[in-house]
Amino acid sequence: MDLGIEGKVALVTGGSRGLGRYSALALAREGVRVAICARTEAPLRKTVEELRALGSEAQGFVADVAVAGDVARLHREVVAALGPVDILLNNVGGGRGGGVLEATDDDWMAAFNLNIFSALRLMRLVAPSMRERRWGRIINIASIYGREHGGRSATYMAAKAALIAMTKHAALAYAKDGILVNSVAPGSIAFPGGSWDRFQREQPPEAVREFIERNLPMGRFGWPEPVGDTVAFLASERASLITGACINVDGGQSHSLI
Ligand SMILES: NC(=O)c1ccc[n+]([C@@H]2O[C@H](COP(=O)([O-])OP(=O)(O)OC[C@H]3O[C@@H](n4cnc5c(N)ncnc54)[C@H](OP(=O)(O)O)[C@@H]3O)[C@@H](O)[C@H]2O)c1
Repeated sequence: MDLGIEGKVALVTGGSRGLGRYSALALAREGVRVAICARTEAPLRKTVEELRALGSEAQGFVADVAVAGDVARLHREVVAALGPVDILLNNVGGGRGGGVLEATDDDWMAAFNLNIFSALRLMRLVAPSMRERRWGRIINIASIYGREHGGRSATYMAAKAALIAMTKHAALAYAKDGILVNSVAPGSIAFPGGSWDRFQREQPPEAVREFIERNLPMGRFGWPEPVGDTVAFLASERASLITGACINVDGGQSHSLI
């Protein structure tokens, strides 16, 4: 299937490692010109080389998307280097603190800043030009724990649920403008250096087996390539009737019927 996005410009936040990196690689394979950002330069540079090896006119930018000024600078630099953003992947996210009552005000604000405000600020910056050009794709990486109860961090659940809600709202606002806005909800995805890889290495084998038995119907952790491929599909011409959706990529891990 030709995804029809060769030559488009994508911005992937947190594209140096993990799901952001796999998504950037999937987009690069489709001939997309990919900008990635992260806070640390060395992994950023390494991933840019990988993207270029796939033929993408890739660029890396050091930026902390939790900082409003960095977000504005990042957007300016990406547009100057590659042109207006056609595809925005808001991938950076995470939680802070444990239960509702244990998490501090700072934990709550940090989680919403990282998951919501980073995405919202970039959406505001890219949307006007997408609207003018009547083509755009915005994809937000949520989690199955934004759709149903799960995990240990209340701030994470609440922030990912808010991200899914914001995605839906934006999708309806831009539905007539050729801009599709969707979210992706991964389950527990393991890759070298990621949190589930650490979990498997650091926990006793019995605890890992029990986790898999209780949570993962396929009998193994998820793997990252299908997340990247889903992002590339949602970014494509082929997804033209999909907007406001939240797509699980979880091997059946989540329990929700909706
Ligand atoms: N892995 C899973 O099982 C899973 C499941 C559900 C949802 N998710 C969601 O998927 C997304 C990616 O998770 P992941 O597991 O791939 O994470 P990861 O392995 O920790 O990778 C995070 C990436 O984001 C960058 N980053 C982190 N904070 C940043 C910031 N403030 N500004 C700019 N870049 C930043 C990191 O580089 P630097 O550290 O150098 O900045 C790195 O490139 C998150 O939203 C997460 O909640 C993951």
